[in-house]
Amino acid sequence: MAKPAAVQHVCTECGTSSGRWLGRCPGCGEFGTMLAESVPVRGAKPVAERRPLLRLVDVVAEESERISTGVPELDRVLGGGLVPASVVLVGGEPGVGKSTLLLNALGAISRERRALLVTGEESVAQVKLRAARLGGCDDVEILAETELDVVCEMLERERPAVCVIDSVQTLWSQEIGSAPGSVSQVREAAGRLLRVSKENGVATFLVGHVTKDGSVAGPRVLEHLVDCVLQFEGDRYHAHRILRAVKNRFGSTNELGVFEMTGTGLVGVPDPSEIFGHTHGGEVGAAVTCALEGTRPLLLEIQSLVAPTDLAMPRRVGTGVDPKRLAMIVAVLSRHAGLPLGAADVFVNVAGGVRIDEPGADLGIALAIASAAKGVPVREGVAAYGEIGLTGRLRPATQTDRRAEECRKFGISLVVGPEAETLRQALGAALADFAD
Ligand SMILES: Nc1ncnc2c1ncn2[C@@H]1O[C@H](COP(=O)(O)OP(=O)(O)OP(=O)(O)O)[C@@H](O)[C@H]1O
Ligand SMILES: [Mg+2]
Repeated sequence: MAKPAAVQHVCTECGTSSGRWLGRCPGCGEFGTMLAESVPVRGAKPVAERRPLLRLVDVVAEESERISTGVPELDRVLGGGLVPASVVLVGGEPGVGKSTLLLNALGAISRERRALLVTGEESVAQVKLRAARLGGCDDVEILAETELDVVCEMLERERPAVCVIDSVQTLWSQEIGSAPGSVSQVREAAGRLLRVSKENGVATFLVGHVTKDGSVAGPRVLEHLVDCVLQFEGDRYHAHRILRAVKNRFGSTNELGVFEMTGTGLVGVPDPSEIFGHTHGGEVGAAVTCALEGTRPLLLEIQSLVAPTDLAMPRRVGTGVDPKRLAMIVAVLSRHAGLPLGAADVFVNVAGGVRIDEPGADLGIALAIASAAKGVPVREGVAAYGEIGLTGRLRPATQTDRRAEECRKFGISLVVGPEAETLRQALGAALADFAD
């Protein structure tokens, strides 16, 4: 009797596998994410040939020149251009502009090097229409293919300098029994492409879709495999898009690229402070902060709404701010600045879909909330930054000089934060009428 095919259960979130089905993944603790997949058939174990070990001093390696993608904001996020033979995963929600960005880059690269687009999602004709809209993509080579073996063979044969796989979730290999997009297929595809890229000197962009919680779809194992993970953010209904590095083996993370989506493609925004850093004078509930995104200081408008509520657990909803940080700021405002927020919903929004993850912006967020709660506008030309401690004391934000410089550049006349000792003092200085 034929042996039934072996089945393993693999978590779609973190890739943990188990012999039996489990309601809760032991790896990441998510419920209902373990899906059955057939176990890939493994060939005979290879016999290790005897090879001498090397000492690092004997290894010859020269740093090869980076490839400019022709998109300055993308180069910046990559750490100064694309490293040859590296593998970069680009994640983002549907429609955010991943294909547009990478086709733009391929077009620029193809002027000097061979650039290949492997499309598994769109037909060649669809890509042609986009290329016609963007312009400058005539020399990009294109392959519409979803079978992994064919793609790998093509890369080995043609050895383009740069290749874009749009998307890694559409690739599938016959050897793996499961459906395209499943954890084992995606992992196999990424692993094989990684090997082929390194061996043939092909720098590869993998496009990956994003799950509801914002991580690159399915296996986080992908993020460990690749050299660089870029996240493309911003909602479809908004013209501005933010590109950031989540992981980078060749440069700093937290570097930020800002784009505007236009009819002719994505246009880089070299001075985002100009767009995001303005409030409409005299508006209640709006404040400007200077956040540090990577090496770049960025002026950001923060808006807040404080509304009375009958809910036993009032809402604290933030877009672009960490919920825990927001809860802490609201608590400190209630306790140490005397704001009655206990029976109010608090909403906070950061301009342009930017996400703030550094504590230096605390004071800006607190100022917007205080302004909304008091119904008093922030003074004209004020920006605020500084970290708020649980005791209501302020800690200076890092790299104050760079932030102050950016504020000066954009005509901010008063910076609140570096001088003030406590949250109360800072609010007093920034709000037109803050009664102690
Ligand atoms: N003619 C146009 N003029 C202006 N903007 C357009 C035009 N056509 C498409 N867009 C923009 O491009 C976006 C789609 O970009 P793109 O296809 O690159 O996204 P994607 O991230 O690759 O999406 P998917 O995940 O579906 O592949 C749309 O949301 C839209 O904003
Ligand atoms: Mg696409």
